[in-house]
Amino acid sequence: MTCMDGQVRHFDEFADVLLRCHHLYRPSIDSIALRNAVESRRQIEIFDYSSSADAFTRAFGMRNSLKCLQALVNVGSRIRSYRKVCDLGCGSGSFSLAFAFLADNADLELHGLDASQRQLSLGEELISAARLPGKFEFERRNLPAEIGYLPDLTISSYWFCENEHVIVDPILFDLLVGREMLIVDYEKIIDRIMACLPRGFRVLARHSTNVEIPAALAEFVAQERASVHSIHIGRTADW
Ligand SMILES: C[S@@+](CC[C@H](N)C(=O)[O-])C[C@H]1O[C@@H](n2cnc3c(N)ncnc32)[C@H](O)[C@@H]1O
Repeated sequence: MTCMDGQVRHFDEFADVLLRCHHLYRPSIDSIALRNAVESRRQIEIFDYSSSADAFTRAFGMRNSLKCLQALVNVGSRIRSYRKVCDLGCGSGSFSLAFAFLADNADLELHGLDASQRQLSLGEELISAARLPGKFEFERRNLPAEIGYLPDLTISSYWFCENEHVIVDPILFDLLVGREMLIVDYEKIIDRIMACLPRGFRVLARHSTNVEIPAALAEFVAQERASVHSIHIGRTADW
């Protein structure tokens, strides 16, 4: 099997997992309106999750999860070695789902943090419907804040675009990053993180690519492919 065949298989199998959660992802009038509005404005958006968590998840949840899966595939087989993983700004769990699927690790302890209780409740429902191995805990937390332990890997998708001040504040940045961190976000945010990386951190990899949306998800994700920008960083030996 070629590397490309392997990737297609990952995405097709992940599509099956996401379809177990179809009741939470099926487009609604509100989610279609939200997606159309976002696409017409073509700018980085900050949503009001107290009123739009459900519409956000239906509009962007599957697509964000597929993007996160692509970023994780780029990390390779090391993905199984991370046991304590923290998802910052986990929302309804896009990155958590992709991580738990690819890691396929019964010892995984995944901890999602988010300020929105509605998003966290959706995340709990999704992770339970997905039936993936591992222990999952979702907790309401305003970030940045002390996490209380050093995760093996911190993951975060589309959180830094809503909290750009953290990119330029080395103390806040340091509070959030585990031994390593994998971030998926808009290209300009990833570029900014790379340009502002504080001392004590180094870039392990940076990727920009496209993800092909599996045909089985066409009615949920109204596009054939989506761009993915990610950065994987680590702490240097002398931190
Ligand atoms: C664009 S959504 C991304 C959600 C998810 N990671 C994804 O990719 O679908 C951003 C999430 O970050 C959360 N968030 C934004 N600012 C936050 C803050 N300062 N503290 C905690 N959560 C925050 C929001 O509640 C929201 O769920």
